[in-house]
Amino acid sequence: MGNMIHLRFFVFGTALLIVLCLLLKTLASSGSQAQRTSAAHIPRKIWQKWETPVQGLGEELMRLSKSWIDMNPDHRYELLTGDSSLTYVRERYEQYPDIIEVFEQTTDGILRADLIRYLTLLSDGGVYTDIDTDCSRPIGEWIPKDLAEQTGLLLGIEYDSQGGEIRKDFNIPTQLCQWTLMARPGHPVLQHVVDRVVEKLLADVRVKDNVTSHDLLYVLETTGPRMFTRAVLESLSLQLHRRISYEDVSNLTEPTMFGDVLVLPISSFASGQDHSGSKPWGNDEQLMSHHFLGFQGWKASHAS
Ligand SMILES: *[C@@H]1O[C@H](CO)[C@@H](O)[C@H](O)[C@H]1NC(C)=O
Ligand SMILES: *[C@@H]1O[C@H](CO)[C@@H](O)[C@H](O)[C@H]1NC(C)=O
Repeated sequence: MGNMIHLRFFVFGTALLIVLCLLLKTLASSGSQAQRTSAAHIPRKIWQKWETPVQGLGEELMRLSKSWIDMNPDHRYELLTGDSSLTYVRERYEQYPDIIEVFEQTTDGILRADLIRYLTLLSDGGVYTDIDTDCSRPIGEWIPKDLAEQTGLLLGIEYDSQGGEIRKDFNIPTQLCQWTLMARPGHPVLQHVVDRVVEKLLADVRVKDNVTSHDLLYVLETTGPRMFTRAVLESLSLQLHRRISYEDVSNLTEPTMFGDVLVLPISSFASGQDHSGSKPWGNDEQLMSHHFLGFQGWKASHAS
């Protein structure tokens, strides 16, 4: 009898121990998972934006877009549409009524397309890339291995005057790309970009009721690459406590770190241009290519 009781306690005790061990193990692994999704990690996710669902892409855009999926089978892919980007912003930025107001009232497609790239990467992170781009090298190879751990934001150069005369259509000595961007969620530089863009749009939205259509200059200066470049340099200067200017991102011959922001040489994102020291298509540095298919259309519709 006494032995039976001992045996029962033994079995019960062992079972309890096993349950406790399993519980601790689950807790420990969920802890490390939470750490992975915050801070330093750039998620394997690709974002694109088009007004209609994927069937609405023409043959050419479909081919380009498919290259991102085909070359990056380990990445999740999402095409945001006009409607789903509105849903996205309302859900993800529920706590930020100013951002929702600006997004809802900014009915101009180009301004919205600019906004959504900053908002998706700030909230979820990953790679955003315009619909008229294709992938030349798998995203997993974009960041040099020795810099992968420390990189929180990856940027390319679109235009570099290289100390020469500045082209009037760019109007600043060096311009960063925002047709393709890669970031971890919550990056402070993107936060600064969003703050600046939303602040400017909010003022305009409140005065004009809604921001519908604008000229090229307004787009460049409000949400586009010129605003983006200024805001990034401003934010980097604040964070690094030294002035980071257009000259610092000029003439880059290799990927260069500014804090945790990695800036790539011109040909990484902007090969095949007849300016900026850009190399012809198919060079070793090329990671993706931009075909400027959207640009002709929006430039024409936003002529001043
Ligand atoms: C935006 O404002 C214009 C007039 O400035 C008006 O015609 C248009 O209906 C408004 N659009 C929206 C979506 O409120
Ligand atoms: C970039 O290089 C060119 C020579 O190739 C030089 O003239 C120019 O001053 C350099 N620009 C900067 C910002 O260092």
